[in-house]
Amino acid sequence: MEKREKIYEGKAKVLYATEDPNFLIQYFKDDATAFNAQKRGTIREKGLLNNQISSTLFQFLEGAGIETHFVRTLGEREMLVKRLEILPIEVVVRNIVAGSLSQRLGLPEGTPLAGTILEFYYKRDDLGDPMINEYHIRALGLATEEEMARVSAMALRINVLLQPFLEKRGLRLIDAKYEFGRYEGRILLGDEISPDGCRFWDMETDEKMDKDRFRRDLGRVEEVYQEVWRRVCAA
Ligand code: TMP
Repeated sequence: MEKREKIYEGKAKVLYATEDPNFLIQYFKDDATAFNAQKRGTIREKGLLNNQISSTLFQFLEGAGIETHFVRTLGEREMLVKRLEILPIEVVVRNIVAGSLSQRLGLPEGTPLAGTILEFYYKRDDLGDPMINEYHIRALGLATEEEMARVSAMALRINVLLQPFLEKRGLRLIDAKYEFGRYEGRILLGDEISPDGCRFWDMETDEKMDKDRFRRDLGRVEEVYQEVWRRVCAA
């Protein structure tokens, strides 16, 4: 597939057109940001590692019946994807208390939850991605009720599928952020699934093995991305 003009550049990825209007090339950068890009840096080899981690997880989910935008891995840092009309909503699924939930509710990180939590955020960098609910989504016309029913069901199913897959590889899925989009009248999983947008804790030690090491200056950032890659892609 031929790489044509850049159509979108985000904080960690670039999307390029191809000769086929239904397909894009998704390129993974080493750039890392946190706190709505107030903190910036690079994580060596992150683009390559996240491309492969995401490719592996998308293929696993496709095999389990989840439709994703993934078509195939192209190069070290690129995958071919279906061109979605992305919903401007970040879907967060939480299994264990961490991050903003810990702060908002005053619960220590690592607190177990009696049930899974599903949250929605409005993708608006200028507003710092505020949390919204399904009423906001309907009222603002971001997605239909039917689409949101599908998004919610898919996000919860993805969570149920990824948990044992990752646990077998020594990773506890604490929470994750997913993005969905429209494609030929259906809702597909888009974006990426990687340590940039998920929290993975080591099953044995609870060591953080995700972008929190960068966000919080915990050190060993490159090493844990490598280790997640090794467990997910090479083991
Ligand atoms: P949070 O606890 O900071 O709200 O994050 C929840 C999950 O969403 C966590 O796995 C990291 C991911 N996330 C992103 O992918 N992008 C973001 O901008 C934020 C704030 C979180």
